[in-house]
Amino acid sequence: MKKILFASSEAVPFIKTGGLADVVGSLPKNFDHKKYDVRVILPKYACMDEKFSKSLKTVASFYTELGWRKQYAGVLGAKADGIQYYFIDNEFYFAGNHPYGEIYQDIEKFAFFSKAVLDALEFIDFLPDVIHCNDWQTGLIPVFLEKFYRGRENYSKIRTVFSIHNIRFQGRWKIPEVKDVTGLPEDVFTAEGIESYGESNYLKGGIVYADAVTTVSKSYAMEIMTPEGGEGLDGVLRRYSFKLFGILNGLDYDVYHPGKDPYITAKFSVKNAAAKKRRNKENLQKISGLPKERDTFLIGMVSRMSDQKGFDLVACILDEFLSRENVQFVVLGTGEERYENMFRYFSDKYPDKMSVYIGYSEDRAHLIYAGADAFLMPSLFEPCGLSQLISLRYGTVPIVRETGGLKDTVEPYNKFTQEGCGFSFANYNAHEMADAMRMAKELYETEKNRWQDLVLRGMKQNFSWKSSVKEYERLYESICQLTE
Ligand code: ADP
Ligand code: GLC
Repeated sequence: MKKILFASSEAVPFIKTGGLADVVGSLPKNFDHKKYDVRVILPKYACMDEKFSKSLKTVASFYTELGWRKQYAGVLGAKADGIQYYFIDNEFYFAGNHPYGEIYQDIEKFAFFSKAVLDALEFIDFLPDVIHCNDWQTGLIPVFLEKFYRGRENYSKIRTVFSIHNIRFQGRWKIPEVKDVTGLPEDVFTAEGIESYGESNYLKGGIVYADAVTTVSKSYAMEIMTPEGGEGLDGVLRRYSFKLFGILNGLDYDVYHPGKDPYITAKFSVKNAAAKKRRNKENLQKISGLPKERDTFLIGMVSRMSDQKGFDLVACILDEFLSRENVQFVVLGTGEERYENMFRYFSDKYPDKMSVYIGYSEDRAHLIYAGADAFLMPSLFEPCGLSQLISLRYGTVPIVRETGGLKDTVEPYNKFTQEGCGFSFANYNAHEMADAMRMAKELYETEKNRWQDLVLRGMKQNFSWKSSVKEYERLYESICQLTE
């Protein structure tokens, strides 16, 4: 039995700000549990929903050395969906009403988390064969392991995987301060180590020191090795390309299941999608304050409001599109104020066509996935993207830009062969996006049967974890052989 420990800054159901939480909350369940004992370790944030924090049980406590500091670390435990979760507790570091704060605070917070994870292993009696780290917040785990723990018997054989969910966020900060916080030796702060453009860079630490690096789609794995997509780290990634793998994310098919979803108005399957989606659409229009128009093309968006998600393209064409087209938009999201305000402005200007809810809402998200006709995701870049996968499963036709995981998962509609399950455009250009939206709308309005076939083809796609989990299992096996 191999022991795998996932270290992450978020995981469903405990704490979520984006797709990382969906991935860490579902991938571990999908391993072959006869061969793999998979557990997860997270920070215990003060902002975690009380219904979870109240149920945690104390497992251990100790002190973690962080440079000259000695900091208290508690370990709490809980089971969810058959998976053992651990939480590192420290009320000072994990205070506040959001998992992430100012970068200078997060730098020390996640250095502490990474160090405490390694210290915790001896106290929780779970010495993993592989620690699977996720994003920059856990990038120092492979570095600390190499520099401070390798000599200890219990740690000598531990291997590490580092998964990049988004290369834009790197955890960069001034070298003297990171030296002080981590106590790591000089050689770590060089170009061979975590130094990058004169700063220290946690994500680079993960790339350099882990035994294998993965990212969440094959296209994104290629893109991050180019100057356009590498956010300054393309050179490092090309250098380590021998240990870089693209493994596509899956979706939790138990949670995102239109036949079982407790949030949606009318549950459905491929057999009754047309009629039931109509009811879901009606209810979505009702709660969104839009006229109940059965045949008006309704486009949904559920997203972090960041430039990553292509909102600059939306901003460019929205006024013209809303003024000219008979269309409805239902938008849910929160993030940068300029985008939130743009949607507020257009929902005031076109109250019968645009409805926006600024905030985070799990139930509204599901209502949009189930009730919209199409889902717009024109990302500037997209490592994998889960929203388009959820849309496909709920019979909502994705309109996407051909980048990263969107390119790998949404096969464009071909009107000659009647293949494909969405609409896409190649360049980061607002008019190309508007053309794709118009093509989708035209098919919806003029060729109902073909549209319905397109919907069903999307619903029948399979983006469960089944094949990706095998790729992770093979990867774990291969890096574990490195020790033998
Ligand atoms: P990213 O992780 O880059 O934000 P993904 O598409 O991988 O993008 O995952 C986003 C996840 O977060 C999806 O499950 C999506 O439904 C959810 N989500 C994003 N914004 C909101 C919101 N405002 N309310 C509810 N869920 C949201
Ligand atoms: C990141 C990416 C998104 C991906 C998610 C989970 O947040 O932006 O594309 O789906 O991580 O891997």
